Amino acid sequence: RHHILSLNDFTTVEYDAVLQTAASFQEVLSRRTKKVPTLQGQVVANLFFEPSTRTRSSFEIAAKRLSADTLNFAAATSSMTKGETILDTAKTYLAMGTDIMVIRHREAGVPNAIAQEMDRLGVKVSVLNAGDGQHEHPSQALLDLFTICTLIDPANPRIELLKGKKIAIVGDILHSRVARSNIWSLTASGAEVHLAAPPTLLPKIFAEYFSEETTSPQRQLFLHWELEPALRDADFVMTLRLQKERMTAHLLPSLREYHQLFGITRDKLQLCQPNVKVLHPGPVNRGVEISSDLMDDPEFSLIQAQVTSGVAVRMALLYLIGSGKVSA
Ligand code: CP
Repeated sequence: RHHILSLNDFTTVEYDAVLQTAASFQEVLSRRTKKVPTLQGQVVANLFFEPSTRTRSSFEIAAKRLSADTLNFAAATSSMTKGETILDTAKTYLAMGTDIMVIRHREAGVPNAIAQEMDRLGVKVSVLNAGDGQHEHPSQALLDLFTICTLIDPANPRIELLKGKKIAIVGDILHSRVARSNIWSLTASGAEVHLAAPPTLLPKIFAEYFSEETTSPQRQLFLHWELEPALRDADFVMTLRLQKERMTAHLLPSLREYHQLFGITRDKLQLCQPNVKVLHPGPVNRGVEISSDLMDDPEFSLIQAQVTSGVAVRMALLYLIGSGKVSA
């Protein structure tokens, strides 16, 4: 594999390669000297056409820990304000010797378009999708997977650890690229994945998209328009941000009503397994999709652990893609 654009065709071997490599980098990050020379001389360009805090910063620190040189681009301060196109911007970074392009854009398909252009030019540049519109956010789903698997077996994280676990994904699934990537990875693991949202944020057609593209009949995906059946006996609850910036219609009840019906609180977690853990990709609307006290409670919340995992997982992705080993 030359690019990482989607998890829809990721294999178990590839998931395990990412998890095992991230575990070894996690160990590197626990040392006093946190740097390895793995990508010395390579250039990683973070091309973010849409705002980001954790994805951009963690790709940057991941590249630096691997001794790569990094370039950071933000559309608002770039020559795109003078009319330069996306593809011309990418080719400009290519001309500066970029080896890996990490791309975020508000429209689905932009990383794929840039990857196609690089392939058409016959250059050895890899493209990593850092979130494109409502399509996918592969590195987020991989760090979520790593966070869960290392909780179950820190010494040997692997995808089979999730077999038989019940995972609820709750919230604005319609607009969530994080949900789409997580559905691919979590259903591939053999977990039971339950989606819960108001009908406006979880259209029925969503299930058809996944059943049509599903490659394995073992994938277990369930849809609910109320919270309770998704939470009952769940091992993990993944709550999602309400993406108001992507809502073109009046898709929501009031935020207070949403919190009452779908917001994750301590009371509602009583439906779950006693040792349930809660995840959120961030940024969080505190008190809307999750209660503020629960978000900060280390007994239940994996939110900070997810951010920490992001560095090791992104080091793994840069290493595997940089060395052509992602399909190891
Ligand atoms: N989870 C996530 O993608 O966060 P950022 O938008 O801050 O990168």
